[in-house]
Amino acid sequence: MSKLSNSKQVKEGFLVLNYSVIQIIIVMKKIFLILLLNITNIFCAGSSVLDVILHELNQVYVLEKQAHGDDCVVIFVKDQAGNKYVIKQIRNPDPSQQFLLILDVLGAYIAECLDLPINRVRIISPKQHYCGKIYHDRPAVLCTYAFGITTNEKCMYKGIDIQQRFRRPGSKMWNTWGSLPEEKKGLTKNVICMMSLHKNLPRIVALDTFIGNSDRGCPNLFYDSFSDSFCGIDMAGSFNKDLAKIACTTVDFLDIDLSDEVIQALQSYYETLKTLINSFPRSRIYALLDDFAQHAGFGKDAQMFCQEVAHRIDFHKRMIAKSLESTKILIQKLEVLLSNVSVAD
Ligand SMILES: Nc1ncnc2c1ncn2[C@@H]1O[C@H](COP(=O)(O)OP(=O)(O)OP(=O)(O)O)[C@@H](O)[C@H]1O
Ligand SMILES: [Mg+2]
Repeated sequence: MSKLSNSKQVKEGFLVLNYSVIQIIIVMKKIFLILLLNITNIFCAGSSVLDVILHELNQVYVLEKQAHGDDCVVIFVKDQAGNKYVIKQIRNPDPSQQFLLILDVLGAYIAECLDLPINRVRIISPKQHYCGKIYHDRPAVLCTYAFGITTNEKCMYKGIDIQQRFRRPGSKMWNTWGSLPEEKKGLTKNVICMMSLHKNLPRIVALDTFIGNSDRGCPNLFYDSFSDSFCGIDMAGSFNKDLAKIACTTVDFLDIDLSDEVIQALQSYYETLKTLINSFPRSRIYALLDDFAQHAGFGKDAQMFCQEVAHRIDFHKRMIAKSLESTKILIQKLEVLLSNVSVAD
């Protein structure tokens, strides 16, 4: 009897031991994954919980399904810890339209490297099945959730205008409304005044100038009163124009008689641009664009690669090159301007 109970105890002991070993292996695996991601991220962007979420596919579940606007489907998801994320896909199956996700992720990645107040974004490849994906064989993006409310809703910054507007000849807007008057294009004096209202804003405006994003309307700018911070989303309308060139003209015609707040905002705008240009030479942005395109199913041998996509990639690369050259000139102009003005003590 005592032999039997002894062997039972030994068996149970083994089971408990095995169970503990398995638990330890699972925990070690998770720690290893997080460490690995952190190490890789030191060389690319800041570490992100999104990378862990992307690896641990079952950690998110659908919160609610929402279809926004004509162009994309936005799904709100939650992980087991209660953190919210957003999965975005483009409705139009045309590869050239699907490619807009690459521009979004590229803009967000550049922002992430400088820790700018923009949502973090990762590609979910067409091969990756993912809870919340509506079109399973297409790419999607996983974004961190922007807290607060969009600035077209009731808040202390309702209607704030930091949008660097632009209408491309031949675009839908251009055909409907014609070209924009010069004084309404890009970095206007009004945008400069508005960006002086909060310390987050000049950094977002600098990013938009750098990546050529003219889509920073109120629906793409969140404000969270709890943390008193802004968060930009949606960079899909980037890398297709030279906003830095327009900003050069505005800076040329700025009065010297600027308020202290405006000078401080311009200083922050200038510093952000300088860090951006030093961190992102043309070759790095091209490599990132190619990498993201490959990962999202636009590689040369992939199904979604077509003549239109090839043209698109060439077009964006040409615009990136132009924009970088204009940004260098813009930085010089800002340097001169800021050396001629000074903030009162
Ligand atoms: N990261 C996020 N956090 C919170 N809400 C988000 C996030 N991303 C998108 N949304 C919500 O979904 C809406 C549409 O998303 P987004 O701006 O990225 O796409 P869009 O291409 O502008 O879409 P549409 O063509 O429908 O305007 C946003 O205005 C916002 O309400
Ligand atoms: Mg939008």
